[in-house]
Amino acid sequence: MFFEWQGSQPVTLRCVDKYHETLDTVSLKLADLSESLLFEFKAGQFINLGVEVNGKIECRAYSLSSLSGDDYLQLTIKRVDAGKVSNYIIDKLLVGDTVQALPPTGEFNCIDHPPVTLQGKKKALLISAGCGITPVFAMAKQWLSNDEKVDIEFLHIARSQQETIYFDLLETYHAAYPDFHLKLLLKNRGDTLYPEGRLDAQWLLELVSDFKQRTVYLCGPRQFMQDVQGYLNELGFDMANFYQESFTPAASEETTVSNEGATVSVPNFAQSIDAKKGQVLAEVLEGAGLPLIVACRSGICGSCKCKVRQGSVSSASQETLTAEEIEQGYVLACSSTIESDLEVQIG
Ligand code: FES
Repeated sequence: MFFEWQGSQPVTLRCVDKYHETLDTVSLKLADLSESLLFEFKAGQFINLGVEVNGKIECRAYSLSSLSGDDYLQLTIKRVDAGKVSNYIIDKLLVGDTVQALPPTGEFNCIDHPPVTLQGKKKALLISAGCGITPVFAMAKQWLSNDEKVDIEFLHIARSQQETIYFDLLETYHAAYPDFHLKLLLKNRGDTLYPEGRLDAQWLLELVSDFKQRTVYLCGPRQFMQDVQGYLNELGFDMANFYQESFTPAASEETTVSNEGATVSVPNFAQSIDAKKGQVLAEVLEGAGLPLIVACRSGICGSCKCKVRQGSVSSASQETLTAEEIEQGYVLACSSTIESDLEVQIG
């Protein structure tokens, strides 16, 4: 039986394994309670996970690193400052505990966006930093396990070998697969053979000299991704062959909360909330206890979609919205900051 979209109904999954990848990162394996469910997805996609923290279900999106068709889902989760769900999973979730999950989704995947064939060869450049390694590693695994003959340059940036997620696996793949070329760039190389440095255009050229012949898949912190995109542009890369995803919060990066007040009314829940201009709409709605699912907090998953019936917001992402929905006033609350008094409809 396959894990298929079931409206908005989540399924209950059981944690069947949990182990540290690095000091501040764990991997989880989640299986169906009856152990009869197979998980089909496109490598690079994520799931929205619902975890009970202090009596309340909190939702977050996590990329998958298992293979499609496995009888479990694997996630790799890194500790983040004040990360309510990530830190709960790392510190408290036990093997045997259950979580809720919606089926895998996401545009950043290597099925909808396969590597282009250039000069008779499919070539990919996977670039990641930190926990951004998860979806791109899933892509590499899929190509290799299906023997898809994709030549893979795997460029990962980390602080040190000890802080490199999947380090042993990466080295194993590098040794085992002629089509998998590991390029690690470490801030602190220690006694490894990997180079030490901060990625820039020069490093990119040096580490992957034929990058212009490759399809690039990029995942990492937002600033890192903006920098890499800048290097690719600077070096004349064809951005038609470029795909990216970041789980860094999209809203509130460039806006500051003002002292000016604004009222957010939500008539279908008989609520009128005092807020400030510049505040992230999702935080205001969540703070008032309204039932808004805010999973990825990055404008990617669409779970926080709501309709602004009056007033205006400034939106950093409209990624999952159709032109028609945008026209009707739908916004992604996680990626929208308040500009005026608002009337909002949830659900
Ligand atoms: S929470 Fe995912 S788009 Fe807003």
